[in-house]
Amino acid sequence: MKVDEIMDVALRRGFIFPASEIYGGVSGFWEYGHLGTLLKKNWEEAWKEHFLGLDTNYYEISTSNIMPKSVFEGSGHLENFNDPLTSCTKCNQRFRADDLIQEVTGRNVEELTPDEMYEIIKSEKIACPKCKGTLGEVNWFNMMFNVNIGAAGGLTGYLRPETAQGSFVSFKRMFEVLRNRLPIGLAIIGRVYRNEISPRQGFFRLREFNQAELQIFFDPDNFGEHEDFDSVKDVMLQVRPLDQDENIELSCGEFAERYNIGKFYVYHMARIQEFYLEKMGIPRDKFRFRELSERERAFYNKVHWDIEVFMETLGGFKEVAGIHYRTDHDLSGHQGMSKQKLMVNIEGKKFIPHVLELSFGVDRNFWALMDLSYEKEEERTVFRFRPSVAPIKVAVFPLLNKPQLKDKAMEIYKDLKPLFQTDYDRGGSIGRRYRRQDEVGTPYGVTIDFDTIEKGTVTIRDRDSMEQEIVPVGELRNKLIGKVYF
Ligand code: GAP
Repeated sequence: MKVDEIMDVALRRGFIFPASEIYGGVSGFWEYGHLGTLLKKNWEEAWKEHFLGLDTNYYEISTSNIMPKSVFEGSGHLENFNDPLTSCTKCNQRFRADDLIQEVTGRNVEELTPDEMYEIIKSEKIACPKCKGTLGEVNWFNMMFNVNIGAAGGLTGYLRPETAQGSFVSFKRMFEVLRNRLPIGLAIIGRVYRNEISPRQGFFRLREFNQAELQIFFDPDNFGEHEDFDSVKDVMLQVRPLDQDENIELSCGEFAERYNIGKFYVYHMARIQEFYLEKMGIPRDKFRFRELSERERAFYNKVHWDIEVFMETLGGFKEVAGIHYRTDHDLSGHQGMSKQKLMVNIEGKKFIPHVLELSFGVDRNFWALMDLSYEKEEERTVFRFRPSVAPIKVAVFPLLNKPQLKDKAMEIYKDLKPLFQTDYDRGGSIGRRYRRQDEVGTPYGVTIDFDTIEKGTVTIRDRDSMEQEIVPVGELRNKLIGKVYF
């Protein structure tokens, strides 16, 4: 199976592996090896470049992972950030009720209440998957991890379940620092923590994971417009609205009108699609926005479309990100709880800004790249990552294990290393070395042979076409810069 093949490469070559592996690991926790760290960082850099580039007033900040209880009272997470839990009355094993029902009946019941789910468990006679015992009532389970802050342990804190709250509690200061202008975007890339009841599907549902989120604070009276909307109005969006049984394509202009969604929201949908299709190279038919029903939506959202990518390893379209209209839910909640004024005054107009949130799961996007880039060919396996995200951009090989060639190859490696993530590989036949680099998605190989010493040329080998090009050493840097970045 494709998932096993990818996992095999991931483990063997240092992309990802289970956390605390030597102690047997714990579900939902994974580590990134050296190549995984590079791929993840490259994705994050591309994300920052794209989304912070959308407005001159969008910035990245970095905030605490542990926040006091009052933050989550203000945001509503203490009350609402729950999943439905059922336990076996015989072996006491705990399960996420909606997942269990979906596995047994195929029905998506995310939008049902705990009582409704319990009724289905009883009527469908769903038993404990472990011991076949009877399952008990379904209750909400709060997914936040709590911690005691300080030696006396008097202050309860929580590990943040989303990076977003860091932006909301920093809004007042950052708005002042950035000279009281709207819209203002505050992005955070970092770790988040959720005590998932049943982390499943390998790398998909994690308990500690990474998010890249951009909170855009704006005047709600401007939700219906965006100054740059004309640049996207004819862009065809891939969407799956609730009133359709299949994916459809609509221009941004038609979409905004037909579904009565503000142009501010639709503009950002177009930019998200651009990121996936043009920057990440995701095929058009493997990408879509899916509308969520009122009961499926997170408790803070008024308009909510998920971004889904088709992943063969996960059996279909899966959520990798979301675009959320959070209104003034968070700022109003924090204003009430903290007793600090979070209202702004723009030319005499006083209001609480509304928030549009672009929320991405970094790890799911990482896995989407692994899934969609992987190919098994007759003689090799290859990750066809875009050069801009590939963990290693260039590998340098001396053709033979001869001192003259090794010295020259090392010299070229040292010249390229400050420019790109570069690898030096001198072990085994040249064919085997190409295969090793193909297997981790390195787009270019540079071979140093006797012509390098005699004529000053090297050979660049292209991962995808496997074609070779001879270039003068003096032109190598510029040639590779052009290939990797343009
Ligand atoms: N701030 C909004 C928010 O956190 P979310 O839909 O709960 O919204 C955003 O999460 C993204 O984080 C999801 O689209 C998904 O990519 C990722 N994500 C959510 N739960 C996850 C989990 N348990 N493991 C890995 N990624 C997860």
